[in-house]
Amino acid sequence: MGFDKISKAIPINAIPITKATLPVFESLEPELRSIFSAGMITNHHYVKKLEEELQRYLGVKHVIAVSSCTSGMMLVMKGLGLTGEIIVPSFTFSATGHAVLWNSLVPRFVEIDPETLTIDPQKVLEAITPHTSAILGVHIFGCPAAVHELEAIAREHKLKLFFDAAHALGSKVGERLVGSFGDAEIFSCSPTKLLVTGEGGLVATNNDDLARQVRIGRTYGDPGTYDCEFAGLSARMGEFNALLGLKSLPMLEENIARRHTLVQCYKQELMHLPGVTFQKIAPSRRTTYKDFSLDK
Ligand SMILES: Cc1ncc(COP(=O)(O)O)c(C=O)c1O
Repeated sequence: MGFDKISKAIPINAIPITKATLPVFESLEPELRSIFSAGMITNHHYVKKLEEELQRYLGVKHVIAVSSCTSGMMLVMKGLGLTGEIIVPSFTFSATGHAVLWNSLVPRFVEIDPETLTIDPQKVLEAITPHTSAILGVHIFGCPAAVHELEAIAREHKLKLFFDAAHALGSKVGERLVGSFGDAEIFSCSPTKLLVTGEGGLVATNNDDLARQVRIGRTYGDPGTYDCEFAGLSARMGEFNALLGLKSLPMLEENIARRHTLVQCYKQELMHLPGVTFQKIAPSRRTTYKDFSLDK
């Protein structure tokens, strides 16, 4: 079967990987003007509104908007006070490991489950040493990691657990949205993601202390007194970015549904090819299909 046949089977409203899914410009225009004329262009009204809307959507106590998923992960690791080794899946994007290294921690890579492509809990157990302080799972391509098994391991071994949820805004485990598992989950809002703010990240957590650390940490570690509590980052989200996120949020469910429709088309055409397999998504889980991956 040639690519021609596949391309004819795919509806024309396919989702180009190189183009962000954006709201129509006119829907932003009045508020863009008001941000501009008020002159409050960073970390103000729209950032707070985006955080509040996502808290409601995800059913989580705190959402803190930051400059990227990478900076969010760096701040979470700092805020949790991690030491020594962090268990990380061997298959992920470079930024997962980089955020670990930037905290002078040691990434301890372990194998993934070859079907779900997410970290294998059995391999996590085997990798725990006296130096391990946390497990960093990744919901790769939007497929939720084995959250319940990892939570049980973290509880039993007194480890922190957090998730690189860069791909997973809208992913579900049963009826529960990804966002409130472990100590924290961190989303990306960069242009190829499900909710786009231009650049940006979102830290979701139910832990009050961690939320405070991340809030302070995105502003140099300064609680507002110029007396920095620790060496933080400059990692705030701007108001224009937050407004884009707010206007994109109502499109999220439709965006996910469209991806599912397109994936069904691809699967129908590709499933008969010898040796081709797809990422396994358990029936009780919803992936976002941030990416549709196949293996051969
Ligand atoms: C799995 C994963 N983690 C982290 C990141 C980094 O996200 P950001 O660019 O928002 O820092 C990405 C970016 O694509 C990613 O794919």
